[in-house]
Amino acid sequence: MSLPPPSLAKAAIATELPIRQIPGSYGLPLLGPLSDRLDYFWFQKPESFFKKRMEKYKSTVFRTNVPPSFPFFTNVNPNVIAVLDVKSFSHLFDLDLVDKKDVLIGDFVPDVNFTGKIRVGVYQDTSEPQHSKVKSYLMDILKRSSSIWVSELVSNLDILWDNIESTLSNSSSVSYFSPLQQFLFTFLCKVLAGADPSRDPKIADSGSAMLNRWLALQLLPTVSIGILQPLEEIFLHSFAYPFFLVSGDYNNLYNFVKQQGKDTINRGEVGFGLTQEEAIHNLLFVLGFNSYGGFSIFLPSLIDAIASNSALQEKLKKEARENGGSTLTFDSVKEMPLVQSVVYETLRMNPPVPLQFGRARKDFRLTSHDSVYDVKKGELLCGFQKLVMRDSLIFDEPDRFKPDRFTEEKGAQLLDYLYWSNGPQSGSPTLSNKQCAGKDVVTLTASLIVAYLFRRYDSINGDGSSITALQKAS
Ligand code: HEM
Repeated sequence: MSLPPPSLAKAAIATELPIRQIPGSYGLPLLGPLSDRLDYFWFQKPESFFKKRMEKYKSTVFRTNVPPSFPFFTNVNPNVIAVLDVKSFSHLFDLDLVDKKDVLIGDFVPDVNFTGKIRVGVYQDTSEPQHSKVKSYLMDILKRSSSIWVSELVSNLDILWDNIESTLSNSSSVSYFSPLQQFLFTFLCKVLAGADPSRDPKIADSGSAMLNRWLALQLLPTVSIGILQPLEEIFLHSFAYPFFLVSGDYNNLYNFVKQQGKDTINRGEVGFGLTQEEAIHNLLFVLGFNSYGGFSIFLPSLIDAIASNSALQEKLKKEARENGGSTLTFDSVKEMPLVQSVVYETLRMNPPVPLQFGRARKDFRLTSHDSVYDVKKGELLCGFQKLVMRDSLIFDEPDRFKPDRFTEEKGAQLLDYLYWSNGPQSGSPTLSNKQCAGKDVVTLTASLIVAYLFRRYDSINGDGSSITALQKAS
């Protein structure tokens, strides 16, 4: 690991940090969780929910409740210890201290029917033998797909941007979210499952919408979708939606992967000792939830960061055209430091998976930059990345999007503190940690997309949801 930036080194020298009681409270039974839930979704929204409490308690570590809660989530405990600076958040990566069993989205676990009655690997702790089996299977899929990843990416990007261009020729603005998801669905089915959606007309036509419905029903109790309040609180955040509403969609996706992804499924059975069911449901989960879901949030924020900044576009264009050879590969984007830095900076400012959780395996002492706190076995730590990634002791001008922040030696050192993948960007996913298996492929894919765009276009205008002008490369 490289040296910490001077600011953190300075903080770390203060070895004699005061021991402090964790501030904050969970409030009265039922009322405390309900009031916090209304603040979280309605009156404050997540970012200011955490920020206001951080300011109130003058601490980056405090007790609060997070949704879902009351009235129909009786077996969900909303009590958490928020960890909101880089140092306290990093305890979530120490698996001697925290257990990652069934805490992917907090104490709430969607009905196991959503994943074929199987607890998929992403919900498993490293102490569960099945976790290693599943993770090695998924890492093997990534390794094997590397021979087709870039060619599939580029040919599907051609289709996406031809499509956007042609719609734009008849209108002043193109909303690109749906075509982007169609692109992601086709591309990810091919590279991860070895399954081509065009072989199944129903899936080619509606596979992406089926995934969206399956995802939405699992996540609705934990996210805000911005519909009129109090309707959202009453109808979306008060109870969990049952699986049967999307069972038809999920069965269609299951049958598609089973039939069209035979080789990939077979590899899971023969090479990794999984049952056919385990291989299919784990593959579908990582394809639909982690990959498709993750990129669907991340890519619009990347396009937004670029499409609104013409000075940055000039620099990106120069680098994408002068470096990396005539054909784009993952090696070529490694020669594009600004392109990569823009990708990292977008992940810092807008981490696609904003919340991370871990349950204390034992009593331990948790350290923030300025204090030490006692955590009891069984308590749930909750990190809100959006604030953690704006830790001013680590990142200069943390609220500013600085495109070149991660360039040069100083920038490379900051990768130790970029946590979007549930681990530092300078670390590696292994069988004994819970870091995203797609950590490298995600940033390289996003970098390649940026390079592709600036070889194809001189300029791009738009935002996180639509494109308003495209100037073809001269
Ligand atoms: C932009 C896209 C992606 C984002 C934002 C993302 C983010 C994450 C995060 C935050 C976690 C940790 C969750 C937790 O336990 O708290 C995770 C885990 C994981 N991700 Fe990704 N991911 C993305 C794409 C991918 C891709 C393409 C793969 C392909 C295989 C993948 C495979 C996994 C797996 C297998 C895990 C579980 C690791 C384990 O159980 O040890 N992810 N991802």
